[in-house]
Amino acid sequence: MSKNAAALTEKTLPDNVATLIDIILEENPMHTSFIDGALKHVSDEELATLDKYLDFCQSKGQNLPYMADSYLTIVGDTFKEQIYFMKHKEYRHKTYADVAGHVYDDEDYMNKYMYGLAITSFLWPNHLDMGRLFVETVPRDRGGKYLDIGPGHGYYLMKAMELGSFDEFLGIDISEASIKQTGAILDHFKPEFKDKFELRLMDFLDATELEAGSFDAIVMGEVLEHVEQPDVFLKRIAELSKDDGYIYITTCINAPAVDHIYLWRTTDELEKMIEGTGLKIKTPLRLPYEGKTLEESQEQDLSINVAYVLEKE
Ligand SMILES: C[S@@+](CC[C@H](N)C(=O)[O-])C[C@H]1O[C@@H](n2cnc3c(N)ncnc32)[C@H](O)[C@@H]1O
Repeated sequence: MSKNAAALTEKTLPDNVATLIDIILEENPMHTSFIDGALKHVSDEELATLDKYLDFCQSKGQNLPYMADSYLTIVGDTFKEQIYFMKHKEYRHKTYADVAGHVYDDEDYMNKYMYGLAITSFLWPNHLDMGRLFVETVPRDRGGKYLDIGPGHGYYLMKAMELGSFDEFLGIDISEASIKQTGAILDHFKPEFKDKFELRLMDFLDATELEAGSFDAIVMGEVLEHVEQPDVFLKRIAELSKDDGYIYITTCINAPAVDHIYLWRTTDELEKMIEGTGLKIKTPLRLPYEGKTLEESQEQDLSINVAYVLEKE
């Protein structure tokens, strides 16, 4: 018998969230202690936001069993990749071509992946903490141009519209499914921004028309580990940012997933790369594997999540 959401917490869970968790636990009772920890970490306000996000998904025809399945697809696929990583000490795939067909270009899979990933932003403690750093640091009173590289589900681009005062927003994503999801979340939550944003379906490195030194904010969440040359992405970000621009990135170390192709084994390795690209780390957030220290996570090849506020050198 699986436990239900209400039995795990004294919090009053919003209806969509309670149903979503009930379905997740019924399908995967082994996930109970993880969800128990997640519910301790997430605030009532964040749960209310997740509930609204689930309302939006349902308005687009994605019912709660589909959303639970999307989340469990990430959990299950990540677990398979963790087993591979423990055995081989390498990610299974190394190039964009290895993953494009079954991830970015597969609309059904990509849709599930992005909906599931948005849910992890609330239920996975490390993802929640990275999102909190973004919410705390994204400038409130700065106008100008905002760039999101790989917006995916679009939640953080929507959040930037809610929190900031930017005049123009550009999202660039290589996957058509992501571009559609981002368009849908912005239309739903921020219809008043209709004429202020543009979404382009392309590889970020092909956006050569973008003007150097023209962006007030550049955000790139969970993209670097998906690309073959992360240093080239970082150099291009340094080039596109204004001298005092806000730059926020997240990525991960020893964190296998179906489409992770660039592996860093330590935070030092990654941070040396960042600092060799014309960028400086202003605020680091290094989040070890649950229950381990950073050193233990590195020694035992366990996943570490990182988020950084960066500045130009
Ligand atoms: C894991 S999702 C991250 C979504 C969101 N930014 C977040 O932080 O949760 C990665 C996104 O980056 C996009 N992406 C991957 N490689 C890209 C590239 N070379 N140029 C633009 N977008 C890319 C993918 O299609 C996907 O939508």
